[in-house]
Parts: sequence; C-alpha cells; structure tokens
Amino acid sequence: MGIISYIKEEIQVIRERDPAIKSNMEVFLYPSFKAILRYRVAHKLYLKKHYFLARWVSQRAVRKTGIEIHPGATIGKGLFIDHGSGVIIGETAELGDNVTLYQGVTLGGTGKEQGKRHPTLGDNVMVSAGAKVLGSFKIGENSKIGAGSVVLKEVPPNCTVVGVPGRIVKMGDQKIPRMDMDQVHLPDPISNDIRELQADNLRMHRQILEMEKRMRCMRTDDIEILDQQETDTSETEEQISR
Ligand SMILES: CC(C)(COP(=O)(O)OP(=O)(O)OC[C@H]1O[C@@H](n2cnc3c(N)ncnc32)[C@H](O)[C@@H]1OP(=O)(O)O)[C@@H](O)C(=O)NCCC(=O)NCCS
Repeated sequence: MGIISYIKEEIQVIRERDPAIKSNMEVFLYPSFKAILRYRVAHKLYLKKHYFLARWVSQRAVRKTGIEIHPGATIGKGLFIDHGSGVIIGETAELGDNVTLYQGVTLGGTGKEQGKRHPTLGDNVMVSAGAKVLGSFKIGENSKIGAGSVVLKEVPPNCTVVGVPGRIVKMGDQKIPRMDMDQVHLPDPISNDIRELQADNLRMHRQILEMEKRMRCMRTDDIEILDQQETDTSETEEQISR
C-alpha cells in the first residue's frame, strides 16, 4: 500500500472512531497515526531480520508518541490507538482488523511463557483505557475489555470483560447473572463483624428483657402466694380464737 492510500485509510479510521476530530489535517497530529506509520516501517525491517534498525525506528516512535509497538507484533488493518500515551504492544502480539486501543493499554506477557507470550486480538476488539491483557491467549472478535481491567485468560467472541481479574459480564449482548461476580461491592470484614456484634447484642438485650419479665411475674406470684398464706393464717387464728 502506498503512503497516500495509507493516509486516506488512516483518515477514514480516525474519523469513524474519534468524534473529536474536526478536519482531515488533524490526522497528522494523532500519535496513533505517527506510531502506526513507524510500526509499518519497523515491521518490514524486522521481517527482513534488520532487528537493530527495526528497534531503532520503533524506539524513536516511542519517544515521540508514548506508544511502544514492538516491530515483531503482527497488526491488521484499521488499528486505532486513541490518545495513545502509555500503550505497549508486545513482540508476539497479534491484532486483527479494526482493533481500537485506548491510552494505558498493555498487550503484554506474564513473564511465565516462552515463544508466543502476548495476546491475540480478534477483529473489532476494543481494549479500554488502562486495561492490561497479559498472556498468550485470544480475545474473540467484537469483544470489549473494560477500562482498568486485567485480563489473564481467553475471552470468547462478542463478550464484555471487566474487573481485576477480568470476568465476562456480557456475552452476545446478554448480561451474565452476577452471583459471585461482583468485583465492586467487595465484602467488608469490619462492617460484617460490627453487624454480627449488633445482632448478638440485640439477642442478649431481648433475653435480659425476657428474664426481667419472668422475674417480675415470679415476684407478683410470690406476693400473691404470701398474701394468700397470710389470709389463711389469720383465718385460722380467728377460728382458733373463737
Ligand atoms: C466495558 C465498556 C466498554 C462497556 O461495555 P458494555 O458491553 O456496553 O457494558 P455495560 O456498560 O453494559 O456494562 C456491563 C456491566 O459492567 C460494568 N462495567 C462497565 N465497565 C466497567 C469497568 N471499566 N470496570 C468495572 N465494571 C464495569 C457495568 O457497571 C455493568 O455492570 P451491571 O451489569 O452491574 O450494571 C465500558 O464500560 C468501558 O470500560 N469503557 C471505557 C472506554 C474508554 O476507555 N474510554 C476512554 C476514553 S478517553
């Protein structure tokens, strides 16, 4: 693809996906445009085994844009990196067509794998701001990774994944029931303890009230018995005196 058709394609990609763009000329200001253009050059050098030159081109792009795409990564058509700063794409990452990445995304390795260490993203995948996708698994086509998520295992197509570690909350536009998937309302052990203590306290309070009531009844009964005994005694005394 010639440079003119590449620029035209980039203009189309950015205009489709960034509502903030006002004119075609602005495309030249986008870090995404600069970084991907340099990646294409670096990748060709990498494939020809000019590894040092490839890294040199890619590192110049990092200095200018804050986006680090390893020259060995395989990237399809229509990649858009919005804002860009802090994006890292590892050497063995593979990106399908029309992938969108936001600032702070890492497509990295876990440090535990050899060979293919980085993720594969299917077509139309979106990885939101600050999300980390770590390991050599696949994110299926059309899936979305929520901002700030850390994804450590395979994601099927058409899913939404959020949280740390990332969990599927939507599949094919159907929400997955929460059950134990709540990563926002985490259990609070201190307030749980306080609630248990309050319940215990209430139970004891009720028991004390019950005991007081019984004691009061017992006292009344006792008084009645004593009264009865007194009356009986005085009657007997009267009878005796007669
Ligand atoms: C994930 C995202 C793309 C939404 O995808 P979606 O398929 O439309 O999902 P929904 O909005 O229906 O959210 C599904 C559930 O996940 C929760 N959720 C969404 N994003 C989340 C996030 N980043 N972290 C934690 N939970 C999140 C929602 O609250 C919702 O929970 P609920 O079922 O209890 O209501 C979006 O929330 C997101 O993270 N966008 C960030 C985009 C970005 O990076 N912008 C930067 C521009 S500078």
